[in-house]
Amino acid sequence: MDIKNVCVIGAGIMGSGIAQLLATHGINVNLVDVSDDILRKVKEVIDKNLQKFYVDKNKISKEEAERILNRINLLVNKDEAIKDAQMVIEAVFEDMELKQNLFADLDAQCEKDVILASNTSSLRITDMATKSINQERIIGIHFFNPAPVMKLIELIKGKKTSDEIVEKSKKFSESLDKTVVTVNDTPGFVTTRLIYVLCNEAINLLAQGIASAEDIDTACKLAFNFPIGPLELSDLVGNDIYDHIGLYLEKELGNNYQPSPLLRKMAREGLLGRKSGKGFYEY
Ligand SMILES: NC(=O)c1ccc[n+]([C@@H]2O[C@H](COP(=O)([O-])OP(=O)(O)OC[C@H]3O[C@@H](n4cnc5c(N)ncnc54)[C@H](O)[C@@H]3O)[C@@H](O)[C@H]2O)c1
Repeated sequence: MDIKNVCVIGAGIMGSGIAQLLATHGINVNLVDVSDDILRKVKEVIDKNLQKFYVDKNKISKEEAERILNRINLLVNKDEAIKDAQMVIEAVFEDMELKQNLFADLDAQCEKDVILASNTSSLRITDMATKSINQERIIGIHFFNPAPVMKLIELIKGKKTSDEIVEKSKKFSESLDKTVVTVNDTPGFVTTRLIYVLCNEAINLLAQGIASAEDIDTACKLAFNFPIGPLELSDLVGNDIYDHIGLYLEKELGNNYQPSPLLRKMAREGLLGRKSGKGFYEY
């Protein structure tokens, strides 16, 4: 099955990046969010990104950028947006109940051969599918930020996800020029679990006065050849996001994953990192 029409639900950082990536690969995208205002702004951002990173660098022509943009249709009406979709990818807020209800609704409305995918970065796919009848077609397709640039896609096979859906999703992901890893379902999967533990431990080291933020980040960058240090990364992702992930992993996997008291405090006090102007560093 050649996937040519995809509906992306949630046009935030990830949904808009995924829409841009898919449209660049010739796929028609129906991009859904809760208001026309959000969608209009998102299209402007995608337009600017195409110009800045592709047209200005002579990677694609102005006409090609226009064609890419024209493949993205903006819709507030989800029921309309999913009509011809062969795959639906949700990138709404990281909230289990919201995603469970969304999948139940999509499962009830979409034809049986439509793949239903979540871009969650931590929530168990199996749990997300519990309110749906056809749970075999629900899968995690975890893109990374920025979706048009990052090379990896982590596919998450829920307990009931069929091998056929995994195979189709893998082929689809590879057609986007991504490298695919397939993992079994567990909170945080491989990537989020590992990076959370590293960042959280770096925050513990800072809180215990072992080293300064700069020295912790420099140590990791030069010792391990990381492009960015764990505290810089936590500021980039958002300290509230790692706090949220930590609480979920702790609840599901045990005390080893308890967020550092300093991380909890920073999230509580709005020291979120780049998006709030201050975190472990000032911006
Ligand atoms: N930000 C990242 O680096 C990153 C990376 C990988 C995966 N993820 C995952 O992607 C998902 C989205 O994250 P994000 O950072 O793009 O969030 P975001 O807050 O930037 O965007 C979420 C969007 O979803 C919209 N939305 C919420 N409920 C909706 C609904 N019922 N119908 C339609 N739209 C709805 C919101 O209006 C918002 O625009 C989350 O599950 C997150 O865990 C995030």
